[in-house]
Amino acid sequence: MAKDDKKDNTLKLKFDSARNLAPAPESKSIAKIKPQYELFINGSFVKPESGKYFDTINPATEEKLSQVAEASPADVDKAIKSAKSAYQKVWSKMPGKERAKYIFRISRMIQEKAREFAVVESLDGGKPIRESRDFDVPTAANHFFYYAGWADKLNYAFPTKTPRPVGVASQIIPWNFPLLMAAWKIAPALATGNTVVLKSAETTPLTALMLAELIQEADLPPGVVNIITGAGETGAAMVSHPDTDKIAFTGSTDVGKIIQKAVASTHKKVTLELGGKAANIIFDDAPLDQAVEGVINGIFFNQGHVCCAGSRLYVQESVYDIVLRKLKDRLETLIVGDPLDKNTDIGAINSRGQLETIQKYLKIGVQEGGEIYQSSCPLPKKGFFCSPTLFTNVSQSSRIAQEEIFGPVLSILTFRTEDEVIEKANNTPYGLSAGVWTDKGSKIFNMTTKLRAGVVWANTFNKFDPTSPFGGFKESGFGREGGLHGLMPYLHLD
Ligand code: NAI
Ligand code: MG
Repeated sequence: MAKDDKKDNTLKLKFDSARNLAPAPESKSIAKIKPQYELFINGSFVKPESGKYFDTINPATEEKLSQVAEASPADVDKAIKSAKSAYQKVWSKMPGKERAKYIFRISRMIQEKAREFAVVESLDGGKPIRESRDFDVPTAANHFFYYAGWADKLNYAFPTKTPRPVGVASQIIPWNFPLLMAAWKIAPALATGNTVVLKSAETTPLTALMLAELIQEADLPPGVVNIITGAGETGAAMVSHPDTDKIAFTGSTDVGKIIQKAVASTHKKVTLELGGKAANIIFDDAPLDQAVEGVINGIFFNQGHVCCAGSRLYVQESVYDIVLRKLKDRLETLIVGDPLDKNTDIGAINSRGQLETIQKYLKIGVQEGGEIYQSSCPLPKKGFFCSPTLFTNVSQSSRIAQEEIFGPVLSILTFRTEDEVIEKANNTPYGLSAGVWTDKGSKIFNMTTKLRAGVVWANTFNKFDPTSPFGGFKESGFGREGGLHGLMPYLHLD
């Protein structure tokens, strides 16, 4: 034990000095953000019919970055009609191998502009540059690359079927992975011969608009991809439009339910990727340091703005004390601050509204009898920031153990047996992801078959790859994105 303590102190000293590192900010000069953006419809940038614009700010400084057009139902109608015309006249008729060339081109061009995309993503949304540079942007390019490969092989993907495209896809995305979500949605739709109207989230429109510029430069036939900006009303107009054939939505469970009601008894195909309350489960035979690192990565990564974030931790009672101590030590070493600084672990909360939601849950947690532990890392004076937070003494029925907080807040609970933890882990309205940490393969197989979650990671967490499907059970939604399964929602397979 004494030896273990000494080792941990050395680690702590190392990280204390890391917190005192000189700032290493990525240069903003590469980001050429325009003062105003229009709607990308039918291959051109056009002004909104209403003449209305709204601001997008940098959540780390609260400064305005740009203003973007607010698409009204009339603009939505224009975008969907242009997508329909491009679908009928050009895209659905084009051979797969020709469509693939355009999609490969988009992938290559994202790679060429990777640094600018990463900087703009961090400026507009608040996520650490390390994450946008090393995860969001390369994974977005990979999605286009992967699905380009499928475009001329659909008959091989579904050998006993005759795959046909669905038509016009209306795609609505959230603010936690703005470019990556756009790629997740657009790439499989194009590969399968559909055309697209995509709406970005109101707080993070800029990288989707950069993608629109790139798509224009890539010479895609006009109307194949339309990218518009606006808030909930714009999204609702896309959902209810009669020429929308397929809706792909990622966001809150509340809006997911509204969408499902709106399309009941229509011809529209729907996939919904909604909230989550993932359980990360540590057994006493797990490699504990690795598990602690995975838990930290699973909830504090991207400020907890991740639908599959490991926001509930179940620790087997016999290792609870040591895991808690290791977690607290590691929490102290995390650097909260400027998203553009390469040393930053936790950037800005995406918006004032989201920060208020998180703060509301911190209060609820304390009121419910939870014991709160927060890192002592100083927070920047301006902007929306939240200290990474642990809650212990949490009961299974606590709201902080049941509801999605979408912030850097971890609820820690304990268990004794496998059966008990399976029941507890499954006991939420959600079922998007889970994590299991153990040395024993048989335990992993038992857990993965019994946990009601779309993805179960074993001895790792938050790993993504374009080739593997992702999606939920229960109120986390339905349909899969990624991999061969991600082609299905965009095809009639009869
Ligand atoms: P939201 O669900 O309102 O927003 C997601 C997207 O849906 C945005 O593009 C928004 O403009 C659009 N939208 C809003 N109302 C709509 C409607 N009636 N019809 C069509 N589209 C509509 O999510 P919000 O308010 O930004 O975040 C609230 C909570 O949702 C978060 O605290 C978090 O718990 C959860 N969330 C989950 C995400 C996920 O990845 N599953 C992503 C973002 C939020
Ligand atoms: Mg913004």
